[in-house]
Amino acid sequence: MTITIDMSPLRGLDALMSTPAVVTIAAIIFTLLIHNFLPHTDRREPPVVKPRVPFIGHIIGLMRHQAKYHIMLQSSTDKPIATLPMLTGKMYAIWDPHLIAAAFRSKSLSTTPHIKVATPAITRVGINTTNLLRGPHGDDLVDRIFEQGIAPSFKGASLQRLNETALSGLATQLSGVAFDKNEDVPNVWLWLRRLMTSVTSTALYGTHDPFAASPDVEDALWELERNLLSLTLNLPAVFTPAGHGARNTLAAALTPYYAARRDEHVSVSDFVRNRAAVLRGAGLPDADIARIEMLLPFAALANTVPLLFWLFSTVVTRPDLVALLRKEVERLVMSRSDANEVTLLVAAGLVEDRCPLLMSCYRETLRQTVHQVSTRTVMEDTTLTDRSGQPYLLKAGHVVQMSVGASHAVPESWGPDADEFQPGRFLSQRGKSSGGDGPGGAKAIRAAFQPFGGGTHLCPGRQFAFAEIMATMATLLLGYEFQPLEGTEWRLPGFGARSVIDAVTKPARHGEGFGMKVRRRQGWEGVRWVYDL
Ligand code: HEM
Ligand SMILES: *[C@@H]1O[C@H](CO)[C@@H](O)[C@H](O)[C@H]1NC(C)=O
Ligand SMILES: *[C@@H]1O[C@H](CO)[C@@H](O)[C@H](O)[C@H]1NC(C)=O
Repeated sequence: MTITIDMSPLRGLDALMSTPAVVTIAAIIFTLLIHNFLPHTDRREPPVVKPRVPFIGHIIGLMRHQAKYHIMLQSSTDKPIATLPMLTGKMYAIWDPHLIAAAFRSKSLSTTPHIKVATPAITRVGINTTNLLRGPHGDDLVDRIFEQGIAPSFKGASLQRLNETALSGLATQLSGVAFDKNEDVPNVWLWLRRLMTSVTSTALYGTHDPFAASPDVEDALWELERNLLSLTLNLPAVFTPAGHGARNTLAAALTPYYAARRDEHVSVSDFVRNRAAVLRGAGLPDADIARIEMLLPFAALANTVPLLFWLFSTVVTRPDLVALLRKEVERLVMSRSDANEVTLLVAAGLVEDRCPLLMSCYRETLRQTVHQVSTRTVMEDTTLTDRSGQPYLLKAGHVVQMSVGASHAVPESWGPDADEFQPGRFLSQRGKSSGGDGPGGAKAIRAAFQPFGGGTHLCPGRQFAFAEIMATMATLLLGYEFQPLEGTEWRLPGFGARSVIDAVTKPARHGEGFGMKVRRRQGWEGVRWVYDL
């Protein structure tokens, strides 16, 4: 007799239970044994959520559903936090908005161990750099990258300049769209991706932007992104040929840039310049700087592009919403010159004041499409306390994942319509009747809205993303009209995989099948755009 045990995560134990008695008994003994093998769990630790398939169920679940697995587990267990047994170890998962906020604030949860291991694997830097990163001085280098390379690059004048260079590029690009004849856009996702990549890469890298050289470099960037998870596993090239190819293309494009010290040119953003200075200061060769800096454009694009895509697509497929939003963005027009140049006021404060519904749509899109899983290692025993005062102990040495996707879906915070896109959800008047603190109330949703993370690792690029996305939205709504490419029905693509590597979900199948016709609105033909920040 041959006994096959079905390990598929969907059927798992159910399948075992429905097979002949002997297998059932074996399964029970097996399960009892596992209980003894399970890592000892202190009563003060979060409640254990056992996988349906012992040992490997959660691993399979995470590999298969990625970030969505957390959302699924949260809704099936309705727990705020859990201990997930995996093989002979365990991982903590946090799903409740208040506990996630506490974890973001905690000083004893760190990303550094992950960065030290993942960076050399993904980028394949030389042996000396790998040893430096993984060794005892790696921690200092990672700290310097954050403190000197990232933090100051998004403050005051540095951020203002980034906003200004990106928006001046955006004005040029959008001025050309359907300028004097209608345009067909076969794939909206690729169209927006191209627009944002060219505008952003030039704002980041300056005059010698390596992405401007060839569309292959841009393609390689998104191809590498698709393969990041498998590259992290550091498998030989045969297993991830596309990922390896993309990495080589990017290394070849970026190495001459850093070797010629293009990063020191006046036109370059402080983000690119300061990071390169830190890496050079640590003695890294140019080729390794180029490889590590392959990860920089992801931070700047991987989330902005899909967010803009969902905001634009959701709005444009709802004519009633387009009409309301147009009224709002008309308030941003400052002037129109004799030369047919229209100046739009896009400073963040003004957009916030004059376009409340557009703001609400922006936030609602972030709520629905950010699936971010923030991963940390517990450096010393840490206690997190939920709103009712219940403490949970996280033990040193274990990994913890906070799922913003789960926190953005819990009905206790968002109300019974948490599954739906509600354009006006974030308007200040909404939810006043529910006392603010109840499900869907203004106070409850403010506490549960965490699209940019929090604490030390709060996204430093959030204002920049806002500047690019809102200027694009305002301009497209104001000056253009959009129709489905074929027929009269819009058919929005579904959500693609929710990767644990990035924060915002991309459309399925590269947005295939979602195209549009673009033309200028009556009265806006031949207009050139200028932004006032
Ligand atoms: C809609 C767009 C964006 C979203 C939703 C987003 C989201 C996030 C989130 C959730 C984190 C925290 C990660 C964690 O907790 O582990 C993060 C970190 C980060 N983001 Fe963004 N981001 C966006 C745009 C940008 C842009 C445009 C840039 C740069 C130009 C950027 C640069 C970074 C960097 C450097 C970090 C790491 C910060 C750290 O670990 O200290 N992001 N982002
Ligand atoms: C690594 O560092 C050693 C000692 O500083 C040096 O001799 C060697 O050439 C370096 N190797 C590479 C591949 O850069
Ligand atoms: C641009 O940068 C400044 C920093 O000076 C920031 O305060 C502002 O909100 C940013 N965004 C826009 C759209 O101006």
